[in-house]
Amino acid sequence: MRKKIIAGNWKMNLSYTEGEELLKNLLNKIADNQSAEVVIAPPFTYLVPFIQISNNKKIKIAAQNCAIEKSGAFTGEVSSTMLLSCGVEYVIIGHSERRTLFFENDEIIKLKVNRVIESGMKLIYCCGESKETRLSEKHESFVTEQLENNLFHLNEDEFKQVIIAYEPIWAIGTGLTATPEQAEQMHAMIRKNVAKRYNSKVGDELSILYGGSVNASNAHSLFKEGNIDGALVGGASLKADDFLTIINAI
Ligand code: PGA
Repeated sequence: MRKKIIAGNWKMNLSYTEGEELLKNLLNKIADNQSAEVVIAPPFTYLVPFIQISNNKKIKIAAQNCAIEKSGAFTGEVSSTMLLSCGVEYVIIGHSERRTLFFENDEIIKLKVNRVIESGMKLIYCCGESKETRLSEKHESFVTEQLENNLFHLNEDEFKQVIIAYEPIWAIGTGLTATPEQAEQMHAMIRKNVAKRYNSKVGDELSILYGGSVNASNAHSLFKEGNIDGALVGGASLKADDFLTIINAI
């Protein structure tokens, strides 16, 4: 059975004290036998203490980004090998905020994908279409192209480190969630593409998360769909009760 994952992407939010309080609160309240893997992606500067606090048990720690280079004169950058050496288990790559606000094109994303894969960490790869693309009914071909450009160069073994997050841009931080049917249709299409590129076993074992205004009220109806294996949660992951409700909905 494929892994269920609930991941919280904190983005650039919360002071260290607020973040630590939220982490400890979650650690206290998440059940020991929780079936889903719970992951949070705090800012870089919180990674090491958070790994120590969570002890990588009930909550796994993810980075929100990594450099395209391994090491060297790249002021301000953090490499995948550094993240690995700190005990980070997951890295988010391809988020639409990185693509649009930080001009990360397919070439850059592919390089970052490679860095995460070669480090041995797990990759949470984000894809998803804009509102215009959806309105012009090109969302399926658009996401297919993203997968082909960013991921499908990986071999079968490498691909086993990949988790895909389908995040329609029009649903991120807007309060507009894709309907369970819209999300399921895209997840099924992504899985079909992966099975076609690799094989049906790889497709079956791939965890595909939905992201975009997931909250305590809509999580359950999304998770009822057969191809939705969890969520990448932004805003609602900053509130312990909301995030816990989402975790318990899977
Ligand atoms: P949101 O963000 O839940 O606030 O829409 C999701 C994301 O960007 O991963």
